[in-house]
Amino acid sequence: MAQPRIGQKVLVDVPSTSANLGPGFDCLGAAVDLNNKFTIRRIEGNGERFELIIEGPEGSHLRGGPDNLFYRAAQRVWKEAGIEPVGLEARVRLAVPPARGLGSSATAIVAGLVGANALTGSPLSKEKLLELAIDIEGHPDNVVPSLLGGLCMTAKAASERWRVVRCEWADSVKAVVAIPSIRLSTSEARRVMPKTIPLGDAVVNLGAMTLLLQGLRTGNGDLIADGMNDRLHEPYRWRLIKGGLEVRKAALQAGAWGCAISGAGPSILALCDKQSGLSVSEAMVKTWQSFDVESRAPMLNLQTLGSNWKPGEHE
Ligand code: HSE
Repeated sequence: MAQPRIGQKVLVDVPSTSANLGPGFDCLGAAVDLNNKFTIRRIEGNGERFELIIEGPEGSHLRGGPDNLFYRAAQRVWKEAGIEPVGLEARVRLAVPPARGLGSSATAIVAGLVGANALTGSPLSKEKLLELAIDIEGHPDNVVPSLLGGLCMTAKAASERWRVVRCEWADSVKAVVAIPSIRLSTSEARRVMPKTIPLGDAVVNLGAMTLLLQGLRTGNGDLIADGMNDRLHEPYRWRLIKGGLEVRKAALQAGAWGCAISGAGPSILALCDKQSGLSVSEAMVKTWQSFDVESRAPMLNLQTLGSNWKPGEHE
């Protein structure tokens, strides 16, 4: 365990994620090949000093104050590792725009944890980082795949421990993620959800989860189609997404097996084979356009590597 030197740098790559996959509200999430890149540098000053520099057109509203998730995550590392907090600068190239349902906040948390840990000689284990990440975010379905990569099912076990199962995802299954220019905050999307749900809805989701995981493992589109079914959050959230239900319908008509709100929205994820990818993408963008909503819809692979870091050149 070492105090980082002034000017010492690490580069951290963190994938974005599509959480709540189909019926997997608050538990199933996938990392996709769209990484936020963080350059983290020790600067002069004590642990209260934090400079945030966002590169690119999105995210200019993000601030580096004490509420910043990256900053809070780094503070947790200093505390857990018993290290005197130090000043940090984070320069961020955002591939994942904030408030779009692609785990942008999770990337900040994971980058703060991984970066601060790497700068101090990695005193904390990956398991510990995972636990801290879930604690900061409050739910596991973005931070876990962001840290570990792949398709992750995270459950609070009877033992009260967080258990993670990395599930299989056939190469033939592609994700088209339609990312609109409109934003939706997770807190707003959580506010519209009821405190209790009917028993029948819970049962539908349990069955759908089994079908979906089997479909993703084998690449069976028919199982994926029946498994991409949710009664826990989508019925309450579609109305928050302008044109959302129509975009979903267009994706299905263009050949997608299934379609779901990505995270808390407003992005929409469609699962399909490679051949249908382009027409699904075009149908989604065109439909959103008819609602005066600009969007893009890249076809993405599962990102299996998770977060990774390397030392940067010392300044
Ligand atoms: N499971 C979370 C939610 C994902 O739906 O609120 C958003 O971060």
